[in-house]
Amino acid sequence: MKILVLGSGAREHAIVHSLAHEHASSGQAQHELHVAPGNPGIGALAQLHAVDANDPDAVVTLAQQLDIDLLMIGPEAPLVAGVADAARAAGIATFGPSAQAARLEGSKAFAKEIMAAAGVPTARPYVCTTLDQVEEALAAVGETNPYVVKDDGLAAGKGVVVTTDRDEALAHAQACLEARTPDAAKVVIEEYLDGPEVSVFVVSDGTTVRALSPAQDFKRVGNDDAGPNTGGMGAYTPLTWAPQGLTEEVITTIAQPTIDEMARRGTPFVGILYVGLALTSAGTRVVEFNVRFGDPETQSVLARLETPLSQVLWAGAHGTLAQLPELQWRDETSVTVVLAARDYPNTPAVGDVITGVDEAEKVPGVHVLHAGTRRDESGAIVSSGGRVLSVVAVGADLDEARARAYEAIVRIVLDGSHYRTDIALKAARNEITVTR
Ligand code: AMP
Ligand code: GLY
Repeated sequence: MKILVLGSGAREHAIVHSLAHEHASSGQAQHELHVAPGNPGIGALAQLHAVDANDPDAVVTLAQQLDIDLLMIGPEAPLVAGVADAARAAGIATFGPSAQAARLEGSKAFAKEIMAAAGVPTARPYVCTTLDQVEEALAAVGETNPYVVKDDGLAAGKGVVVTTDRDEALAHAQACLEARTPDAAKVVIEEYLDGPEVSVFVVSDGTTVRALSPAQDFKRVGNDDAGPNTGGMGAYTPLTWAPQGLTEEVITTIAQPTIDEMARRGTPFVGILYVGLALTSAGTRVVEFNVRFGDPETQSVLARLETPLSQVLWAGAHGTLAQLPELQWRDETSVTVVLAARDYPNTPAVGDVITGVDEAEKVPGVHVLHAGTRRDESGAIVSSGGRVLSVVAVGADLDEARARAYEAIVRIVLDGSHYRTDIALKAARNEITVTR
């Protein structure tokens, strides 16, 4: 197959890595892979195209020039910008939701509306457009739990503040309201959800759904969840501690009702519905929906997927998921540790030389995926963003996968870089409990 993937992060590198290697186990012919815009790591596996992934016309033109069989859209921005709509209108088989369906991620208020209509359990929201409403909502959720304040629109995982400090909650709400034009100003205050968080990626062809293996990610920058939220500092899968039947519960009580509601409204959802869950003492609750693969969970989830990824994407894009055999998983554990640039998530240092990636990949079960990297004039790989690399390790269990990931990451040299040393540690020590 000729496949065009949009995006430039470690998630897209993981997708391309899977597509590039699946012929080895499936016996099918090797794919011809194209990526826009990609990064130097992806460039080793696919042909890169300097095309703006957020420009629907430019993407369609490229896809037509290349005569691709399948378009896979990685990040949320092109989806919200309507790239999938333009591609489908041009007759291109596309994996990724329409702009209307992408509002499940693009607007927290819309996501809450769909959840209410579909009977999906989530934290009770208070959608506010003025500071007076914010004050009322903060009073209504009460002081016994932290306040949860969310920017209504896309904020790359940084629009949410969870705090016990009422002034901080109010200040964030005010900043969210002021950042938009008065008629678009919207901020969501919601009930606090306790309990461990889980990410479940659900593939949908608009009608049928299939869940991928649950994963957990680490959003805060520092060990023990200290410091500010980031785009994600690490992940692992599978979850040894997750309740039996969690995946089935997610399908029947969350994913299928949501997909049915979207179809009923005439805006069917094709792509990945990312279900962010909290396993609270009161039961399973949706924290958030995203409309794409999560980063960095995807790096770990795809490392275990044995079913060729292209078959999953193809079935999603063509409405034939119901005919796809049950997904097959390798009986291994995968741990991903993100290497971040100096001062990330504030103002990350860029332009610093990265070495040792080859050495890191000599550790058994390890591969390294690029995110914020570029090639400088001399051809050296240098940092170009906050999250620079994802080190992905598979092993027989959490201990082995963790040991491999950390043995590999210390071999990578990037001045001032940092990473969490406790990815999957609580799970490895059996310290995660779910109260039901
Ligand atoms: P979101 O952008 O909605 O994914 O939120 C980002 C992160 O904030 C989540 O992954 C949670 O860690 C935290 N969070 C969001 N909503 C809540 C909530 N209602 N209760 C507790 N934590 C939350
Ligand atoms: N892992 C969090 C995200 O992709 O939004």
